Amino acid sequence: MGKKIPHGISITICNHKGGSGKTTTACNLAAGLARLDFKTLLIDVDPQSNATITFLDRTLIDIHLGHAFLGFQSQNGQFMRHPFANAIYETAVPNLDLAASNLSLSKLNRIIDSSDIIELYYAVKDARLEYDFIIIDTPPNLGPLLDMALLASNYYIIPIEAAFYPLEGVSDLDETIGKIRRIHKENIQLLGALVTRFDQRTKICGQAYSTVVETFKDAAFETVIRNNTKLVTAPALNQSIYDHAPTSYGAEDYTQFVKETLARLKIAVDGRNLMLVNS
Ligand SMILES: Nc1ncnc2c1ncn2[C@@H]1O[C@H](COP(=O)(O)OP(=O)(O)OP(=O)(O)O)[C@@H](O)[C@H]1O
Ligand SMILES: [Mg+2]
Repeated sequence: MGKKIPHGISITICNHKGGSGKTTTACNLAAGLARLDFKTLLIDVDPQSNATITFLDRTLIDIHLGHAFLGFQSQNGQFMRHPFANAIYETAVPNLDLAASNLSLSKLNRIIDSSDIIELYYAVKDARLEYDFIIIDTPPNLGPLLDMALLASNYYIIPIEAAFYPLEGVSDLDETIGKIRRIHKENIQLLGALVTRFDQRTKICGQAYSTVVETFKDAAFETVIRNNTKLVTAPALNQSIYDHAPTSYGAEDYTQFVKETLARLKIAVDGRNLMLVNS
């Protein structure tokens, strides 16, 4: 399968509020792009490894990002690191590969050396030559793993749970983005804020959606991800929502979200860059 986009696009999915739908969004955005024939790499930098175990059998993962970023002691006692590429696995979804996480990555949160933070930036730079899209799932906290992901990204998407105080902590994320732009001179851009786990029967969800639209204006995705239990059961069967329950609300909403993401990037489904075509 040939590459469709000349320079792969990297997108971090982030919100340090736990349970906001980051992993569900990262997995189904990545699988949705892969289904459209875009060669896609999903990178899991969350030590919880939820994206990893959504698509891979944990027992088959011998090399992971902990080996690439933290290194390890070899059998003859030497300290070694695996190249990033060794932590990449094919998934059962055609066109979708995954860079596997491991609990050991949480140790990276205690390492403040900026040379480690830049590792993913270089890895993604190389991956851009091979993949159309690189989607990065991040942990629910601020720290080096999030910095690492943002530094390696062209864009970021903030999934926001339709709940009380939906924007709690989002200003801290703004500070982190500001720091990355200032220190590393990388112009990472907000691709949008996505309301998730929306239940149209409750007033709270409606209020949360209005708050997100008032705050983010045009950056709020028009697509809203409704509550759907199929999105909860799909990972347990190592499946994306499109394979697990293709006619569910979850599949419908994430299909719409993938389309809106491509439209925001001005990329047609066949990979043509509309911006270039129109200019
Ligand atoms: N639209 C939805 N409808 C129903 N359940 C959902 C929906 N989106 C996510 N969930 C469920 O909510 C929980 C949290 O979602 P998810 O793991 O995607 O969030 P997260 O932001 O990655 O969490 P963490 O901060 O722990 O990494 C999961 O059990 C997931 O299956
Ligand atoms: Mg998660």
